[in-house]
Amino acid sequence: MNEKANNQAPQIRLVEVGPRDGLQNESEPVSVDDKVTLINLLSEAGLRTIESGSFVAPRWVPQMANTDAVFRDIDRHDGVTYTALVPNLKGLEGAVASQVEEIAVFLAVSDAFSQKNINCTMAESITRVQPVVSAALEKGIKVRGYLSCVLGCPYAGEINPSTVASMSKQLIDMGCYEVSLGDTIGVGTSAAAYNLVKQVADVISVSQIAVHFHDTYGQALANIHAVLPLGVTVIDTAVAGLGGCPYAKGATGNVATEDVVYMLHGMQLNTGIDMQRLLDANRFISKRLGRPGSSRTANALLSAQEH
Ligand code: HMG
Ligand code: MG
Repeated sequence: MNEKANNQAPQIRLVEVGPRDGLQNESEPVSVDDKVTLINLLSEAGLRTIESGSFVAPRWVPQMANTDAVFRDIDRHDGVTYTALVPNLKGLEGAVASQVEEIAVFLAVSDAFSQKNINCTMAESITRVQPVVSAALEKGIKVRGYLSCVLGCPYAGEINPSTVASMSKQLIDMGCYEVSLGDTIGVGTSAAAYNLVKQVADVISVSQIAVHFHDTYGQALANIHAVLPLGVTVIDTAVAGLGGCPYAKGATGNVATEDVVYMLHGMQLNTGIDMQRLLDANRFISKRLGRPGSSRTANALLSAQEH
């Protein structure tokens, strides 16, 4: 079993989004200390990019209201980038005050979802994030761009891949170094995921594409497997499969970090992640949330280790 990372440089970079995308959706508050412990355990497991919170309006996403305290208290390891979501200039101010080195702006590829999530249309969202990206870059802060609903929208239904390609290009032209393609509601299948990434890779470099698949319909691993041959090397994942989206009812978590690591190591692709240490993070957060995580790999390994 390929549980352990080998010593080569990672061929695939995993962006751990559990502390943000995962915990933003919890109904009960999660304390600063618990978030900090989770993030520290994830960095000790070998994750090199950890999305640790968001500087958004607390009225919209109360779970992220303590992000400044989280950034204050985490042990910042060399070589690990701790990132945060930022919707506007006010959010950027918060990120700068918390010495965040990399931010993510987030847009959707349907007007309906955009209205629900950030209270503006797609066109307005581009106009809104432009000054945020410029101001961040001027301060030496790297910017990632997210696009939501790339394989289907809970309100608008099917999405034309050309819309996703065009918005991806706009984000890169604006100065984002990477675009994360979010299947927010997890409806995509492998053929659709492949076609989408192929079309987006016609307008930006495949090295600028990350995939962000929620596992609502159980398709996330298949979708990742389908896009790897196109040259995708950045994958967003969440420990224990945490998550959902407050503005996409019924959406379950991101694909579990443990499941992706298990698949990639089985394909002899190095991630730099130590599965045993990752299981420590899984155990910790599952205990704190009072329920087992949804990672099939973690549940199998933990149960085998208990017996
Ligand atoms: P709005 O209500 O239109 O904004 O919200 P506003 O400018 O009118 O401000 C309203 C209030 O919020 C004001 O306070 C502002 O000061 C405050 P009041 O005067 O009423 O007391 N405010 C803020 N406070 C703290 N930080 C800020 C901030 N901005 C305004 N940055 C806004 C517009 C964009 C702010 C709001 O809609 C928002 O915060 N939305 C965030 C939604 C969100 O976080 N969604 C989840 C993340 S996206 C996601 O999960 C998808 C992803 O994972 C990819 C995928 O899966 O597809 C990334
Ligand atoms: Mg998400």
